[in-house]
Amino acid sequence: MNNFEYCNPTRLVFGKGQIEKLAKLVPLHSRVMITFGGGSVKRNGVYEAVKMALHEHKCIEFWGIEPNPSVETLRKAVELGKERQVDFLLAVGGGSVLDGTKLIAAALAQPDLDPWDLVLQGRSTTSIPFACVMTLPATGSEMNCGAVISCQKTNEKRSFYSNYPVFSILDPQVTFSLPLHQIACGLTDIFVHVLEQYLTTPGQSRPMDRWAEGLLLTILEIAPKIWNNPHDYNLMSDYMLSATLALNDMIRMGVTQDWSTHMIGHELTALCGIAHGASLALVMPGTMRVLRDQKWGKLLQYAERIWGLTDGDDEDIIDRAIAETEAFFQSLGLATRLSDAGISDQVIDIIARRFDEAGVAYGEAKNVNGEMVRKILLNCK
Ligand code: NZQ
Ligand code: ZN
Repeated sequence: MNNFEYCNPTRLVFGKGQIEKLAKLVPLHSRVMITFGGGSVKRNGVYEAVKMALHEHKCIEFWGIEPNPSVETLRKAVELGKERQVDFLLAVGGGSVLDGTKLIAAALAQPDLDPWDLVLQGRSTTSIPFACVMTLPATGSEMNCGAVISCQKTNEKRSFYSNYPVFSILDPQVTFSLPLHQIACGLTDIFVHVLEQYLTTPGQSRPMDRWAEGLLLTILEIAPKIWNNPHDYNLMSDYMLSATLALNDMIRMGVTQDWSTHMIGHELTALCGIAHGASLALVMPGTMRVLRDQKWGKLLQYAERIWGLTDGDDEDIIDRAIAETEAFFQSLGLATRLSDAGISDQVIDIIARRFDEAGVAYGEAKNVNGEMVRKILLNCK
């Protein structure tokens, strides 16, 4: 196991009716800006609940943080925040609203820097305090320090790391209004988050392996049930907590990680507008096929412990585990082939070139460079 330090300062406030705790959790004398997406919270009662809880606080509102939050929109929020001397941010929405709010928080603490320059720096340790009411289980943003920010002008999507939310409220009832496609994307995002941290090299850490496998098995168990009953409180609780645990640093202590599927997926989103979870369903099976030799031992472990595959030779077992993974994404109604998503060879060229130009290489072996990306995407056709 590699050396590591672990510290996750986010207070998780989970369960029915927990939004009313905002009254106590948000400091009373702070100047609060509440950030929202496009309006789903007005249709499902979350907005009313938040306003009710904060009726004694001084709050202003910023609306319109879009899926895959853009720096263009976030700059407007930063301007408003500066003008009104905001010193506490509350994100109410999905991962996009919270990610955007992480950048607003960093930019308000460093008013002389343009938000995109902060993104390009990749990391900021300074930000004003922020918290969230999470409405979409998927990204884990509610308990991590990451954010993914887009630039509409250049069609780029980049990761940015700053601070953790002070607290995150997770009430599974707020997920009842989610469309099935969003749930499919969320379940896929969670599944792939675990694979990015698990499907690398075997024998690094038993606790991390078992923890990851527990989450994978949970998602496979609840996904078909949620499909038939998306208003079941206990099912949606398991879904919501799985999202948090999959990306709150808990399953990656002391082990190597991959993340190449995510990096390629971000390019598909930036260039073709594909939703985040849907982009991962397109890329993950190809990553598994192209990197099967490198991931051999872990693929066999995954095949046995997740899919119960032990009969046949190793080659065949791995083929079937990858096929099962692809079939799982398809069972959620997601495309797993670029051709089904209308993605052309030209897009593959652009993505490979972007990796080359940036000189980056992802994956546990740091070998997913432009050339490897091309192989993976061609394999996904
Ligand atoms: O904008 P509103 O009107 O609120 O509607 C949203 C949006 O249209 C809607 N929605 C959210 N909660 C709802 C709801 N609709 C009905 N009922 C509810 N309870 O869902 C749509 C998608 O929302 P979005 O926030 O974009 O989805 P998600 O949470 O999947 O976030 C995706 C973003 O997070 C990034 C992705 O790249 C993408 O930009 N990621 C962030 C990560 C992180 N911070 O650690 C890691 C992830 O790998 C991911 O990259
Ligand atoms: Zn993700």
